[in-house]
Amino acid sequence: MENKKLASRVGKVAPFQVMAVLERAKALQAQGEDVIHLEVGEPDFVAPATIAKAGVEATEQGKTGYTSATGLPELKQKISQHYAKRYQVEVDPARIIVTPGASGALLLMSSLMVESGDNVLMPDPCYPCNRHFLVQVGAEAKLIETQATNGFEIELSSLDQHWDNATSGMWLASPSNPTGAVLSQEYIAEAWQKVQHLGGHLLVDEIYQGLVYDGEDFTALSVSDEVFVINSFSKYFAMTGWRLGWLVVPEWAIEGATKLAQNLFISAPSISQYAALKAFDDEVLLECEARRQTLAKRRDVLLAGIQSLGLPVVAPAQGAFYLYVDVSSVADDAMQWCLDLLEEQKVALTPGADFGVKDADKYVRFAYTCDEARLTEAVARIQNFIRNRQDAG
Ligand SMILES: Cc1ncc(COP(=O)(O)O)c(C=O)c1O
Repeated sequence: MENKKLASRVGKVAPFQVMAVLERAKALQAQGEDVIHLEVGEPDFVAPATIAKAGVEATEQGKTGYTSATGLPELKQKISQHYAKRYQVEVDPARIIVTPGASGALLLMSSLMVESGDNVLMPDPCYPCNRHFLVQVGAEAKLIETQATNGFEIELSSLDQHWDNATSGMWLASPSNPTGAVLSQEYIAEAWQKVQHLGGHLLVDEIYQGLVYDGEDFTALSVSDEVFVINSFSKYFAMTGWRLGWLVVPEWAIEGATKLAQNLFISAPSISQYAALKAFDDEVLLECEARRQTLAKRRDVLLAGIQSLGLPVVAPAQGAFYLYVDVSSVADDAMQWCLDLLEEQKVALTPGADFGVKDADKYVRFAYTCDEARLTEAVARIQNFIRNRQDAG
């Protein structure tokens, strides 16, 4: 029927390529196959018990209504204190807008800072939803090619060549999904200086903050109060399904962000906010730190395993829980390689095509979200897969 027509922007949003892998993985599991999941971008931990308990208590006590649009004042206070204690940065709680996940913060940020017709610079590869949030406001991402040998960083010396009249700002992430690369404070300072000079905004997505194994664990807020920062309880606190994140805005943007938050979400989930009040308790932070150490060990196991396969791991992968690996020496097309690997050896990975354009068919992302024994087993299976193909070819 003629009027059964979706808005044209829907066509500009690409589905996740990894869904094809995931669906097939589920089908194989339903047949009783033992699939190793290294494709999922969420921790295999659940929220620390203290947080979960606080959520149950909030539910029982009926603390289930809307909260103020920008979040519970006590939670904003706790986040602010966390910045002061861990990162020695003063952040006025009024600048913190609590959102439904970092996803809510990205949506808010797009509406707040990007005009329709604008473009926003971001590295290729990067988190795929960024460009789709921009589509929702009639804008687009301008992906800038990066090199693995350079930690997948945007070359700042060439920034003005990419910047045009429609460029509204630059969005970075550290640690990065999919590469695990961590930007330095010096890099962020230079990026901010350049972006400011060009008259745009800088957003740094710090959703993997705290999950740093080498390199600096800092916040871009230490560089300037004018930098926008996104964060979330999803990764470090393993609260993906609780849907809670935040956006830090400069003082002059508080009123605008508040208006948008009221209209876009009314409020972030109240139960999750009450639960998250416990997230910064010492005992919880200790538990999260122990998990970070577990992830660090897994990273080392996987890095060594991938090197033993003869695959180059050029990107330093200092943080998050991802390795972005060039498989072009053993695969013509990374997507097909992922599907064949799953079929033959029951290991699920995410193809690079989900994250960018340049060399996307050469890369796959490994998420080390399962224990060391499973990681070792996955590497052994991949080894068989590569050998079988070499023998056949
Ligand atoms: C870089 C990055 N930003 C934002 C998000 C969204 O996270 P959430 O909405 O769960 O906080 C993700 C999720 O994987 C991510 O990797």
